[in-house]
Amino acid sequence: MLDFDVAAHADRAHADRPEAFVQGLPDERPAAPALGHLYARVAKHITPAEWPLIAREVEAIERLKRERNAVVLGHNYQAPEIFNTVADIVGDSLALAREAVTVDADVIVMAGVHFMAETAKLLNPSKTVLMPDMGAGCSLADSITAADIRLLKERYPGVPVVTYVNTSAEVKAESDYCCTSGNAVKVVRAVAKEWGVNRILMLPDEFLAQNVQKLVPELELIAWKGHCEVHERFTPQDIRDLRENHPGVVVLAHPECPPEVVAEADYAGSTAGMADYVRDEKPARVVLITECSMADNVAVNHPDIEFVRPCNLCPHMRRITLPNIRRALETMTTQVEIDPAIAGRARLAVERMLAIS
Ligand code: 13P
Ligand code: SF4
Repeated sequence: MLDFDVAAHADRAHADRPEAFVQGLPDERPAAPALGHLYARVAKHITPAEWPLIAREVEAIERLKRERNAVVLGHNYQAPEIFNTVADIVGDSLALAREAVTVDADVIVMAGVHFMAETAKLLNPSKTVLMPDMGAGCSLADSITAADIRLLKERYPGVPVVTYVNTSAEVKAESDYCCTSGNAVKVVRAVAKEWGVNRILMLPDEFLAQNVQKLVPELELIAWKGHCEVHERFTPQDIRDLRENHPGVVVLAHPECPPEVVAEADYAGSTAGMADYVRDEKPARVVLITECSMADNVAVNHPDIEFVRPCNLCPHMRRITLPNIRRALETMTTQVEIDPAIAGRARLAVERMLAIS
């Protein structure tokens, strides 16, 4: 089953967090006992010996969040010790973009990659958006420039441009609409109808465009050669080997994977789509063909499900750490700024997407 029209998923990491933790704890209390209830959520990844150090970072971040009136947005690929502790809002790119609009805070810290922080800033121009490590990029965002889009528009006049949210603000500014993996099918269908066309430039992820193309045979999607360096590494043989070695395993794949990989999967969807599939279908044994911290985070809420865990890590997501989140809040750096001449047009593309989805 392929379904990229998935709803953004809720803030699960927060749902069972005791009030005492959300409200904060006096600084003089010993870190580990005070936050002991959180340890259960990260126990598979953090040893008891490591925990006191981590708990102290978490306490410091919680105190700074209160002082700065800040929230931390955490992408589903964040390390468990971030996702399950300091992240106030967690989800896929679409959920984070949506939540960024409604968030009641003066400061947003992005525990994710740079394009996600830019999107948060586009939708919250009056708020301070902090990026704990400006080097947290994305191979897809790096694969295309605003000049490339201008050239494509010259080559394909009158063809609407839909760009994946994994792009820079400059690229979004040259685009007519944004999309995410969670709403790509819905967006291209709506754009085709609105513009009265059947050709759409869908950039820059070649595999996402090819996977969406299969679901909209009535349209012609023109792709670019960008790839996600994490998802392009999976092969159809990997899936066949997983099925052989783990009989009965249900295979969920992200649509940034090559189409031959998606064809071998039981379901393809955004990170939120995969989490929702696990929650709703409760497969006895499952493998998520995506960045591997995702399985760690989903597994916390499903102790009865066996997760098979091949591991492809995103080096950009891994640049975000508890110490650099703390430093960002202490020093209020690095602030994400977008040239106003670019921001207005880029915001329009994101807002058009949100209006559709
Ligand atoms: P999602 O929108 O599915 O969360 O994906 C973002 C991403 O970077 C995937 O590699
Ligand atoms: Fe970019 Fe791929 Fe990393 Fe997602 S997993 S941030 S698409 S490099």
